[in-house]
Amino acid sequence: MSDKIQTLSGYIYEYQKSVQDPEGFWARIADSFYWRKRWDKVLDWDFEKPEIKWFLNAQLNITENLLERHLFTLGDKPAIVWEPNDPNEPGVTLTYKQLHQKVCQFANVLLAQGIKKGDRVIIYMPMVPEAAIAMLACARVGAVHSVVFAGFSASALADRIVDCQAKMVLTADGNFRGKKTIPVKEVVDEALKKADTIHKVIVLQRTGTTVTMQEGRDLWWHDTIENMSFDHSAESMDAEDMLFILYTSGSTGKPKGVVHTCAGYMVYSQYSFQNVFQYTTDDVYWCTADIGWITGHSYIVYGPLLAGATTLMFEGVPTFPDAGRFWAIVDKYKVNQFYTAPTAIRALQAYGNAPLEPYGLDSLKVIGSVGEPINEEAWHWYHDHVGKGKCPIVDTWWQTETGGILISPLAGITPTKPSYATLPLPGVQLVIVDNDGRELMGNSVEGNLCVKFPWPSMLRTTYGDHERCRSTYFSVYEGMYFTGDGVKRDEDGYYRILGRVDDVINVSGHRMGTAEVENAINEHPKVVESAVVGYPHDIKGQGIHAFVICDMEGRSEASLVTEIKETVTKIIGPIAKPDKIQIVPGLPKTRSGKIMRRILRKVAEGDTTNLGDTSTLLNPEVVEVIKKDAIDLI
Ligand code: WTA
Repeated sequence: MSDKIQTLSGYIYEYQKSVQDPEGFWARIADSFYWRKRWDKVLDWDFEKPEIKWFLNAQLNITENLLERHLFTLGDKPAIVWEPNDPNEPGVTLTYKQLHQKVCQFANVLLAQGIKKGDRVIIYMPMVPEAAIAMLACARVGAVHSVVFAGFSASALADRIVDCQAKMVLTADGNFRGKKTIPVKEVVDEALKKADTIHKVIVLQRTGTTVTMQEGRDLWWHDTIENMSFDHSAESMDAEDMLFILYTSGSTGKPKGVVHTCAGYMVYSQYSFQNVFQYTTDDVYWCTADIGWITGHSYIVYGPLLAGATTLMFEGVPTFPDAGRFWAIVDKYKVNQFYTAPTAIRALQAYGNAPLEPYGLDSLKVIGSVGEPINEEAWHWYHDHVGKGKCPIVDTWWQTETGGILISPLAGITPTKPSYATLPLPGVQLVIVDNDGRELMGNSVEGNLCVKFPWPSMLRTTYGDHERCRSTYFSVYEGMYFTGDGVKRDEDGYYRILGRVDDVINVSGHRMGTAEVENAINEHPKVVESAVVGYPHDIKGQGIHAFVICDMEGRSEASLVTEIKETVTKIIGPIAKPDKIQIVPGLPKTRSGKIMRRILRKVAEGDTTNLGDTSTLLNPEVVEVIKKDAIDLI
């Protein structure tokens, strides 16, 4: 762990080195990994194309770095500690040795079922250790995993399977979520009616839910591993071979498959984990994310295990059996680093301090936040009541596309400031540009957040559509990666993320494209047109407000609203269900037919007195009606 920064001056020194000599800097960090063959060159890049290559021609397998590399020194140390949904069910601990065996065993299953290097495998599973084993087994044989959050609908799952032409689905009979049991396999069956590339489905028995197993296609997990060997020699991968695809929403069209590759992702996820959380050898680290999101990939599975950490995985929800569950788990396992999302913090804060009272939370050293801007009130509550005033908060800014944390305090090293992600990690060269792409120099500036130099875990492409990657991220501002976020650099040079500047909304830390939600709404046969905007929501950060034009003939407004919500749940999943649906006679449009979202956003925010100039609209009269009706919804 010699790459761990220990002081603020150490951070400043490392940061400067990483800018002056990026290749030398990353070569030094990469030296502590196990390479089958060392790289010929550290970096090749061209943001125009874009083409980014790190550790050229190196050969490695990431699982050798998170398993074999630790076996001798940490073999008996818990790697994964699993807490089930039901607090009365016993948990599971897997040591590094046991995890190694299970990953090797399942790698052999994948091979036996015809999976080869480069094949895509969908993982649609609950938060159980087998989900992590599945990811690692894929990486071990060189298959590309694409984890799909198990709350997505059959239709969303089918889209992802088709887009990446996956051959296999790894799933479970069901998913325990608080008091509910979700029939996961049933969703897979439904999805597979529309996606015919899948040869095999392997089903983990978890909930005992009755499932239909299709002869020749579906296999039980426990049957496949029976008598399967624990010996497996990892596939040798090129540094730039694909490690995984993770779908994420953007401003337009369907979610895109963000592609991460082996070596750069490996180096950066470990480095950022060690430095941001300041993990030390015997710590127990817990990230509450789901493995269906990038946070689960980088900071439940890859980063912590690469660093030889003990990573806790939790199957359930924060409010079951009561709103003290997180704190009960922290005390039970003596968690040292705790990493969650502002939406969870705000939701728990709403229960008051009583659920915290039975718990000491003495073990906590570092508490983290990710996924959306954390408001000052939530920051202080988290700091005072969870961290008891003694734990630094790491407000970590990053994205699916960045692979790892790019802006964050280093715990206990960087002085924090409420709601500020503070400073970039070494190797991360940020720029703020105005809308014309001019760099805003110095402090006390506000604009669009870009990165001007590659970092090892950045996305390489969007699966099957490189042009989309170029046009979304690398062509908005010439020669830079554009994040889609607005940012402020204050008088101290600290960064504060202001939220998305594009048509992406962030609901409970989940990214959603407004176009994606509109397309789902428009699937309802009575919908003529719709427009979706985000509005500030006390718990979720942003809520979804949909303005919908409907053919009302013979229908009541209430029934249409219910049906539209059901349609969105069916097409995307419950996380995309609009909070407010307003049936409107028209949408404010410019003379060229473009929807004026600015006006809709103001209306949704409840700010109807300050709509700006509406006289140039094609249909200014519609604004008056929308304004009036919106008041009833607030
Ligand atoms: C937002 C999640 C403010 C941001 C890791 C970004 C944040 C999007 C923060 C990426 C933060 C993430 N402060 N905003 N600390 N972290 N975001 O791809 O808008 O699910 O662009 O990755 O979440 O979401 P994604």
